[in-house]
Amino acid sequence: MKLDFSNKVAVITGGARGIGAATAEAFYQAKAKVALLDLNGEACQERATTIDPSGSNAAAYQADITDERQVQNAVDQILAVFGRIDILVNNAGILHHVPIEEKTIDDFESVLKVNLTGAFIMCKVIVPVMKKQGGGKIVNISTLGARTGRPGVAADYAGSKAGLIGITRSLAKELGPSGIYVNAIAPGPILTELTKQVPKELFAKWNVGRVIDKDGLPEDVANAVLFLSSEMSDWITGITLDVNGGLFIP
Ligand SMILES: NC(=O)c1ccc[n+]([C@@H]2O[C@H](COP(=O)([O-])OP(=O)(O)OC[C@H]3O[C@@H](n4cnc5c(N)ncnc54)[C@H](O)[C@@H]3O)[C@@H](O)[C@H]2O)c1
Repeated sequence: MKLDFSNKVAVITGGARGIGAATAEAFYQAKAKVALLDLNGEACQERATTIDPSGSNAAAYQADITDERQVQNAVDQILAVFGRIDILVNNAGILHHVPIEEKTIDDFESVLKVNLTGAFIMCKVIVPVMKKQGGGKIVNISTLGARTGRPGVAADYAGSKAGLIGITRSLAKELGPSGIYVNAIAPGPILTELTKQVPKELFAKWNVGRVIDKDGLPEDVANAVLFLSSEMSDWITGITLDVNGGLFIP
């Protein structure tokens, strides 16, 4: 069954590339209006134009999600263009593959700031919009490393993404009565620009034990995002969905 997001508006952070770009494309194909938000305004604009050359159903917004003023400004622009926001995908994230001995407190805090504070700011600014509209769907992109710990996955990254699962559970309880669903996805290793900075042997090591013989692609995560943003998941909130080819089966 094909999902249909006609008349829905989806905001995707980190939409310029990787999982965010694939998610934006999938929403567009499913007839949503899509707002791609990214720190890299130029790449984001290019991506939006590739998805929808007419610009009427996919548009780019440059903002740093760690800056509440920039986020508010982008959300105001999205509302001026599309009129509403039904879906928020907190996808933007960073990681630094550095052992703890070499990591500074500033490094640690910069990862927390994007992966955790940034997602919180997005929710803080968009939740009042969803409340006014009578509901919405929020999907937070965590990681398998937050669930299991992973060789080579830095503590700051895993910690920030575990925090995102906590935010997901807490906001699901707080916002459920307002018709706002909050869920997380914990992807296993996915082939994107982000994981290209990981040594090949380490990427292969991450996949040892996977039971489905296929590397994870951005589209695999995008499909799960669409499910959790659709009416097909209307009795699901507060969960973390594992999308990992059977690498981790709790
Ligand atoms: N790739 C994987 O294997 C994998 C696995 C599990 C989870 N994830 C998570 O999925 C998400 C997307 O991963 P990806 O591999 O597509 O990453 P990516 O690096 O390819 O893309 C991330 C995007 O986020 C944007 N971004 C970074 N900081 C930002 C900020 N402060 N404000 C706005 N935008 C910002 C970047 O410009 C970039 O376009 C991340 O949160 C990542 O932690 C990825």
